[in-house]
Amino acid sequence: MLRSIAWWRRTRHLGQNKMRKIAMLGSGFIGRFYADSIQGYRNRDRIVMIQSRQEESCLSFAHHYHVAHWTTQIETAVSHPEVDTVIIALPNHLHEEAIMACIKYHKPVLCTKPLGRNAAEAYRMLEAVEAAHLFNGYLEDLVYTPKFLKSHQVIASGALGKILWAKSREAHPGPHSEWFWNKELAGGGAIIDLACHCIEVSRSFIGKDIRPVEVMCWADTQVKPIDAEDHAIGLVKYESGAIGQFEVSWTFRGGLDLRDEVMGSEGTIWSNGFMRTGLEVFTSGKGTGYMAEKAETDQGWTFPAGDELNELGYNHMFTDMFDALDQNMAPKETFYDGYVVNAIMDAAYLSVKSKQWEPVVLNVWRGAEQQEETSVLTSYDQDHWLVKEEVTHYGAKKLILKEKVSGRIFERLL
Ligand SMILES: NC(=O)c1ccc[n+]([C@@H]2O[C@H](COP(=O)([O-])OP(=O)(O)OC[C@H]3O[C@@H](n4cnc5c(N)ncnc54)[C@H](O)[C@@H]3O)[C@@H](O)[C@H]2O)c1
Repeated sequence: MLRSIAWWRRTRHLGQNKMRKIAMLGSGFIGRFYADSIQGYRNRDRIVMIQSRQEESCLSFAHHYHVAHWTTQIETAVSHPEVDTVIIALPNHLHEEAIMACIKYHKPVLCTKPLGRNAAEAYRMLEAVEAAHLFNGYLEDLVYTPKFLKSHQVIASGALGKILWAKSREAHPGPHSEWFWNKELAGGGAIIDLACHCIEVSRSFIGKDIRPVEVMCWADTQVKPIDAEDHAIGLVKYESGAIGQFEVSWTFRGGLDLRDEVMGSEGTIWSNGFMRTGLEVFTSGKGTGYMAEKAETDQGWTFPAGDELNELGYNHMFTDMFDALDQNMAPKETFYDGYVVNAIMDAAYLSVKSKQWEPVVLNVWRGAEQQEETSVLTSYDQDHWLVKEEVTHYGAKKLILKEKVSGRIFERLL
């Protein structure tokens, strides 16, 4: 019987995969998004253990997602004999403790963002999982959104030429749990919470192989009564000459603003990740409730996402993570990426204080060495560089040229 290649690939793929038996540490906001993604589409993977701080939260989660076992103790969850994979969806100050438990019981570990509250903490986790030869995945969902997966393909094809500038914004009215607002527990404010996403998004466009060199950052506490920053804008300079820009805020009003731009020498990408995905709903407010993550209203014109799990990258992220685990390979995002992101954020915090460019200090760099800034100049002829070519509104074709030897710039009407 004739079978298509697509069928063969599909069945071969299925044959290799096993059902993951997951312990979810944390039953809060992101734990439930993760669970919806993992179990919401008749997938084969199952959460078999839920750990949370309070019994009621464990029971509610266990009931909702049909989870067999629950506990309030991290170690009890990780060590359970049925568990073969651990997902960490706990507040930032508990990531290290949870990862060390995974190492103790040698359970593959996937950790949410940010990996650490600072680079030193992230580096300890990286060193520890690698010394134990433990599978590790960094759950940066935003580099897995369908829009970005397509953008990565477009960039890899050369359609944008040399990447010069990648700007990433995440802004919303602030997080939903008390611990985020405590600088010690969270490790910082809007930078640690949101710039970790934006930095990895920009890195994924500029090239993860290209070394981040230095950071300049402004941050302030403009609105909220907290010690940490509620708004920041930063520039990350890469060895190729590219600039990554992050814009993050906990003071933005109007929902969850995820917008990104990539500029290359040959092209441009603009993407609106959440509030303008093409679905626009008007309602008087009757009968509504939840519209979308961090939406501030359920009345008037609203902009829900059709499928939040997919738009935010969770489905593709877990597919990559579990496929990599089955095939004994590294996923696209590992703790090393989490560590690099933490190192960039450390430099950003230093720059906020010093008001200077601050170097990105990496104990270990695994990308390309000494990237030269590659020239993107276009030669018009042997003697001239082309600065610009344009057809004007009055029909003239103009060239702006630069003499290679003298450096003189002049225009020529064709
Ligand atoms: N898109 C994303 O990737 C994304 C989005 C939101 C949050 N996160 C990350 O997920 C992690 C958890 O964030 P969240 O929004 O789910 O938080 P949350 O407060 O909603 O949930 C935290 C969970 O941890 C449990 N917990 C256990 N010990 C605790 C303690 N000592 N203090 C507080 N909670 C404790 C809580 O019971 C709760 O179930 C954080 O690292 C956060 O940065 C990632």
